[in-house]
Amino acid sequence: MALSAEDRALVRALWKKLGSNVGVYTTEALERTFLAFPATKTYFSHLDLSPGSSQVRAHGQKVADALSLAVERLDDLPHALSALSHLHACQLRVDPASFQLLGHCLLVTLARHYPGDFSPALQASLDKFLSHVISALASEYR
Ligand code: HEM
Repeated sequence: MALSAEDRALVRALWKKLGSNVGVYTTEALERTFLAFPATKTYFSHLDLSPGSSQVRAHGQKVADALSLAVERLDDLPHALSALSHLHACQLRVDPASFQLLGHCLLVTLARHYPGDFSPALQASLDKFLSHVISALASEYR
């Protein structure tokens, strides 16, 4: 389903509010993903995944930067994320079903930190945004 003008406005406003903390929340979302869905850890066996790991934080910042780019390029997501999709599909060989797990954990993380902002409308718009990101990331799997 396409992102409406209202969806875009809600997602952009939340991102503005997150400011420089996007990496902090993305890191928490990664930590939650590794705990709630341990099979996802198998892709990161070369990293230190212990709580508070600086390697997970550094990775969280990279994922955060990709999400912030996606927020900036809502009209052009498949292009904006095509190199990243290629990397996950052809080099990292990540099961695309696991993108949903990280997306889910990011929603939970943001709901926890911004309970007052997390209206049903914001949840729906963020969910749509993450679905678009995930389908763009999955686009090079063929
Ligand atoms: C690397 C984004 C989901 C596995 C990366 C990088 C980015 C990124 C920006 C760094 C690329 C680079 O260094 O050039 C995303 C986004 C996701 C997502 C936006 C979904 C919203 C996942 C999931 C998994 C995964 C769910 C596996 C469960 C990996 C691995 C690396 C990586 C193994 C390489 C890490 C390393 O060796 O440093 N991802 N990713 N990604 N991603 Fe993802």
